[in-house]
Amino acid sequence: MIPANLAAAAAMAAIHAESFPAGEAWDGSAFAAQLAQPGVFGRLDPQGGLVLARIAGDEAEILTLGVVPASRRRGLGRALLAAALAEAAARGARRVFLEVAVANQPALALYAAAGFTPVGRRRGYYADGQDALVLSAVLSPPAAATGG
Ligand SMILES: CC(C)(COP(=O)(O)OP(=O)(O)OC[C@H]1O[C@@H](n2cnc3c(N)ncnc32)[C@H](O)[C@@H]1OP(=O)(O)O)[C@@H](O)C(=O)NCCC(=O)NCCS
Repeated sequence: MIPANLAAAAAMAAIHAESFPAGEAWDGSAFAAQLAQPGVFGRLDPQGGLVLARIAGDEAEILTLGVVPASRRRGLGRALLAAALAEAAARGARRVFLEVAVANQPALALYAAAGFTPVGRRRGYYADGQDALVLSAVLSPPAAATGG
């Protein structure tokens, strides 16, 4: 797993295109634009996974998370999410949010296992009319910063 930088935008777009349905995938310029924003960071796994997150103050948001079908159910998604949450906590985030389609069982299971709970619902959020659930989790400060 490697930190995502601008040079990784094309590789991230290729993984995203495999991981998401046509029409939902972000292209290279979308990733480049995101990565150029302050507070945006991510991870790329060469086996075919990515996560992109944004931090603002003490709140973070998971912008996207995807694993290519051939590499699923091997712990990659969990590891990418954990890495993003750890970096967000290290950068000072104390709460993290994300949106997920109400019918996206794999993602809902992954997020529930990572401690996310529903805090809201956005009606018709997705292009296909599906609602999004807003999930949130509390982040623990990094051990070194707690003073014991
Ligand atoms: C959601 C996604 C990222 C999961 O990636 P992954 O690498 O397969 O996930 P992991 O192998 O790390 O799974 C971790 C846990 O999540 C849950 N999970 C993952 N896929 C699941 C599935 N198909 N059904 C039920 N639970 C699932 C399980 O609890 C799993 O733990 P387990 O394998 O020990 O049972 C992947 O399915 C994906 O890219 N989907 C399409 C894009 C997407 O929906 N992204 C999220 C948008 S919010």
